[in-house]
Amino acid sequence: MLETLPIASWTGPYAPEIKARALAGLEGGAVLFFPNLAFALAEKEKQFLDARVSDGKAKNISLDPSGKLQSTALTGKSAKDLAAMMARFADSTSSLVAGLLPYRDIERARTSYRPVQVKGRSQSKISDDRLLHVDAFPSRPMRGRRILRFFANVAPTSPRHWHVGEPFEDFARTFLPRVGPHMPGKSWLFDKLGVTRGRRSLYDELMLSLHDTAKLDDAFQKNSPHQKVAFPPGSCWMVFTDMVLHAAMGGEFALEQTFHLDVEQMAQPERAPIKVLERLSGKSLA
Ligand code: SIN
Ligand code: FE
Repeated sequence: MLETLPIASWTGPYAPEIKARALAGLEGGAVLFFPNLAFALAEKEKQFLDARVSDGKAKNISLDPSGKLQSTALTGKSAKDLAAMMARFADSTSSLVAGLLPYRDIERARTSYRPVQVKGRSQSKISDDRLLHVDAFPSRPMRGRRILRFFANVAPTSPRHWHVGEPFEDFARTFLPRVGPHMPGKSWLFDKLGVTRGRRSLYDELMLSLHDTAKLDDAFQKNSPHQKVAFPPGSCWMVFTDMVLHAAMGGEFALEQTFHLDVEQMAQPERAPIKVLERLSGKSLA
């Protein structure tokens, strides 16, 4: 479930044996764990280790690839410095991913900074990431493309606690028969109304239903098999969050970089959630 890699540098070249383990682990549904890889903050960046950097509304501060910073209470020079720290993280993770994985065409998506303690946060069940889930986002149709995320724990002392759940196929077999029928016309309407960026495919509808149904199922949350992982301060990890059931249970101050990837880029495309769901449902989903 955890593939631990002894990498200590953001730039390659990395040993062929390490690259092989990274690829097989990632596509097989493991979390790649880098205990010796720290994202170091500059002295002046340590001011950002403060929950008040957040605007108090959104869970995360985000920086999109065009450079737009959202959901921070900071303004002026401090906001610029925070954006620069996040951009440096995006560059570092892009360099590592390019050196470690064979994906030639991988899209760098959003960067997020998560300065608020996970534990005390109150929110609806659907948006509560302390409940086991696979990632699926209402406004961002993926049409089968993969969501790959790279995390760094930049907290000075607290570990980031996760639960990691059962394999995707086991989960899908249980929940697929329970998710409601797709409402024809809804995806088209949401696209026209601007609710989504582009039209949701059947895959997106299904993944959203799986995400919501799992979070709302108290018995599943309580009883389904999961392992506890603590990512120490100064460590990093990377995982396909559209496939690996995960929940963030505690911790503060994490950075996260999202990448998007076409299924065809994978060494084992049949492992992609869309392929698994198509096989189990007997339908074409995108
Ligand atoms: C999530 O992706 O569900 C949250 C992960 C985290 O913030 O550690
Ligand atoms: Fe998630």
